[in-house]
Amino acid sequence: MPDQISGQLQAALVALVPTGCAAVAMPVGESDALPRLSAEEDALTALWAPHRRNEFAAGRACARRALGGVGAEHACLPADEDGVPVWPVGYLGSISHSRGLAMAVAVSAGLYSLVGLDVEKTNRLGEGAMSRIVHPLEAALAGSDQVRTSILFSLKEAFYKAQFPRWRTTGNFQDLALEVDMDAGTAQILEMDARFAAELRQLRFAFRCVDDYVVSLCWR
Ligand SMILES: CC(C)(COP(=O)(O)OP(=O)(O)OC[C@H]1O[C@@H](n2cnc3c(N)ncnc32)[C@H](O)[C@@H]1OP(=O)(O)O)[C@@H](O)C(=O)NCCC(=O)NCCS
Repeated sequence: MPDQISGQLQAALVALVPTGCAAVAMPVGESDALPRLSAEEDALTALWAPHRRNEFAAGRACARRALGGVGAEHACLPADEDGVPVWPVGYLGSISHSRGLAMAVAVSAGLYSLVGLDVEKTNRLGEGAMSRIVHPLEAALAGSDQVRTSILFSLKEAFYKAQFPRWRTTGNFQDLALEVDMDAGTAQILEMDARFAAELRQLRFAFRCVDDYVVSLCWR
């Protein structure tokens, strides 16, 4: 990823996060320049493909810096059996990576109770994937537009990552319909399947597009 795009994505991320939330992004490095992993993280990823290990390490480095930004120095962020990062008691956060860039947000659990972060390319979805992502209530907004559908996809991934650590609810993209304000870079829930916890209706959503990427955040 060109440095200029990486810098713009980092700026977009920082502009997205609400007061009190720390956000950090960094390029995914090569194996010989990996950010340090804790012994537990090292063991978890020892057999992973180099590319996957690199993005894990960059995501963990972002998460540690973000935690430092909200007053929680923390050396180790293991993953649970579902791959969800285990944040230190009293804090929560979210990690995402895409095509050479990793990012993370962290916040005190006293300020916010849910947070989900996602970064995606906006030029990769095929027609089949687009039809699985778009809810009938979103059809007028999305049409057959790849960028708008990618924004919906990213917002729904952020939603999923915000709710999963607490409720472990699985579903599909048609379980959620969003109303998106393309100019403001915000969204709200129009319809949500009853399998998801009712308090998720209070989630706030924001996104920013940079070049052919979108960064999305949802929080409460
Ligand atoms: C889990 C999932 C959201 C990851 O998204 P992704 O775009 O593939 O990957 P990202 O880079 O954005 O995020 C990966 C990071 O999220 C975190 N993560 C993994 N699983 C997670 C989960 N279930 N919940 C929250 N965070 C999770 C991890 O930190 C992971 O990175 P790491 O393994 O290097 O630590 C995705 O694989 C998934 O399962 N999506 C289903 C969405 C869905 O069904 N939505 C329907 C309801 S609207």
